[in-house]
Order: sequence, then structure tokens, then C-alpha cells
Amino acid sequence: MHSSRGTLALLLCAIFRAATACSDGQCEVGDRCSSEADCGSELYCYNCWIEFAGKKCVRSTVADPFKIVDTSLPFNKYAFLTTHNSFSIRGEPSRTGVPRITFYNQDDSITDQLNNGVRALMLDVYDFRDEVWLCHSKGGKCFDFTAFEPAIDAMREVEAFLAANPSEVVTLILEDYVSSDQGLSKLFNATGLTRHWFPVSRMPRRGEDWPRVRDMVARDHRLLVFTSDESKEAGEGIAYQWNFMVENQYGDGGMMGLHGCRSRSESREMGDTARSLVLVNYFHTVPLRATACVEHSRPGLVDALRACHAAAGNRWANFLAVDYYKRSDGGGVFEATDMLNGMLICGRDDVRACRRRTLKDALHGMLGDLRLMLGRGGAKRK
Ligand SMILES: *[C@@H]1O[C@H](CO)[C@@H](O)[C@H](O)[C@H]1NC(C)=O
Repeated sequence: MHSSRGTLALLLCAIFRAATACSDGQCEVGDRCSSEADCGSELYCYNCWIEFAGKKCVRSTVADPFKIVDTSLPFNKYAFLTTHNSFSIRGEPSRTGVPRITFYNQDDSITDQLNNGVRALMLDVYDFRDEVWLCHSKGGKCFDFTAFEPAIDAMREVEAFLAANPSEVVTLILEDYVSSDQGLSKLFNATGLTRHWFPVSRMPRRGEDWPRVRDMVARDHRLLVFTSDESKEAGEGIAYQWNFMVENQYGDGGMMGLHGCRSRSESREMGDTARSLVLVNYFHTVPLRATACVEHSRPGLVDALRACHAAAGNRWANFLAVDYYKRSDGGGVFEATDMLNGMLICGRDDVRACRRRTLKDALHGMLGDLRLMLGRGGAKRK
């Protein structure tokens, strides 16, 4: 009796200690947590598996390569986390008065996405109610029940982010159904985004490197816009996406892991190096939150990136497009993006390994060694 009660007490104690092994912002990726406050910075407390598995601290932000390394490289030597249907956000209230009937792809606002390190947004733009709207629709027509919001609202979020972050670059990839006269140009004029516009005349057409990010920032060429409507490049000076990038298949066709990486029909072959940018889609045809979490937590994601690297003529993806970007069991799409930046910038599998060592770093290291030596000496003396 006595000893079994003791065992139980020990067991309970062990469970309790495991559950509170870390707290107050001390927990690291993969540690159990009970609330947001337990996890360290750039992590949140989340469980996307079965309920009783418990919550863990998981990543929520991309490591910014411009800050961790620098902006000295051409734009096409960096990778950018991309949200697919960035505007199709769960819980967004209807703006038309009609309940929405559509699929959702993301959990949080465009502002939150940008603040978490997302740098490219995939947006579906339509003519609707005499304006340009963001809709998740079919057949090129927006309806009351597929409409999200006037595009100008999302553009204002992008403008606010660019204004508040003067060294960052944002890319918009538009699935473009706007046929009203100069509809998109009017939209970009009205939001002041033309001030940050990267002119199509400066985009490389024969596989050359892009300008260096440092120079793009200096000129305030920090907004790249690509359209799926070929006529708008000559018509309105908006870059036709597939003149500048290759892209793999989207939906289930893009999730074959190591079993290949084929281009979508509008794109040149992945291996066509006359297109300087590489976009990899990694999301299911039907976006489900639970499956997104599983896919972001398994090796299939990196396998797909490797397969596309090979298919694209040994070029790592510049854009990784996903649904429900924050859902994972640990590093998720953030770790994958850090890997892409590492490979692109210095050939290592994490962008942090590309950090340039400064004099201050070197001194810090020397001081650390010195302290270690003195500490050991002191222990011996005693
Ligand atoms: C947008 O603004 C520019 C510069 O002010 C102007 O030349 C152009 O006509 C405007 N476009 C539209 C469609 O309003």
C-alpha cells in the first residue's frame, strides 16, 4: 500500500514536472507549453494533432535574411515565404451581407502575415461592384457569396507595412480577372503603392540576376507585382508572371515529394533558366487546416523543395507558397524558408549559418573563451 502510494506520488510529480519543465518564455521549439507566455520569442503555443497530445511551442516567424545576413545579394538569391490566397482568411466577416460559401486558406490577417515574415501574397482579383475585389471564386466571376473585401483594403495593409519597414520588399502575385479599364492601375494609384513600384523595365528577361536588394531598397523599388494576365504587361506595365518565373503545379500535383516537380501549364519548364525566379507551391487542392499542419511537419516539404531544386536546374525556390502557414509541429514552413535562404546565400541548410562574423562577434567569442579558461582555473585552485 505504502510503496504504491509513493510510486503514484512520484509518477504525478514526474508528470507535473514534465508539464512545467519550462515556462515564462523559456520554452524552446518542441517543448510542452500551456500558454503563449511559456514560449520564447517568435514561438507560439499550439497543437495541431489530436487533442490529448498536448500543446508545444512552435515557430511563428521567418528568420529575416536581410537582417541576419544583409541585402548585398540580387533579389533572386533570397527566398520568401508566400501565402496562397492570403486574403481567404477564416472568420473574416462577410462584407456583402451574404454568408460566404468557399474554402479558406489562412488563419490571420495580411498585416499579421507580413509581420511574421511572409513576403509574398497570392491574391485573386476580380471586378465586382464597380471596384476591384478579392474573391475566392470560380470561372472568373465574383459573387456575393465568394467575395472577401475590396482589394484596396488589403493594399492599404501592404502600404502600411512597407512604410513601417523601409528595408523590406513585398511581392504580389495576382490571379487576375480584372478586365475593367486600367482597373489595377487605378487601384495601385489610389493606395499610394505606385511610390514603391518596381518597374517592369528593370526586371531581367533572359535569366540574368535581379538588382541587388540593397539597390532596390535605396530606390524604393520594394513592391513587385506579377499578373496572370499577359496583356497587362504591355497595357499597364504590370509584369506577366511567367515571363519572369517558373512555377510548379499547384494543389495535389505540387505535393509529390521526391517524386518529381513539374511545371504548371502557364509556366515554362522548371529547368528554363531564362526565368530568374523559381516558385514552389506546396498545398493541397482542398485546403484543410489539419492536413496543412501535417504536411508542414513532415519531411515531404523539404523533399519537394529538393525535387524542385533539381528540376529547376539546381536552383532553390525563391517563393514557397503554402496554406495555413503558421500550422506545424515545430519548425514548419519557417524552418523550410530558413533552409532555402541558407542554401541560396551560403550553401548551408539554415540562414543563421550564413551570418557574417563581425569584429564584435569575434571579441565576444574571445571573451567567452577567456572566461571559460579562468573559470576552470578557479575551480582547480579550490
Ligand atoms: C496613375 O498615376 C500616374 C502618375 O500620377 C498617372 O500618370 C496615371 O495616369 C494614373 N493611372 C490611372 C489609371 O489613374
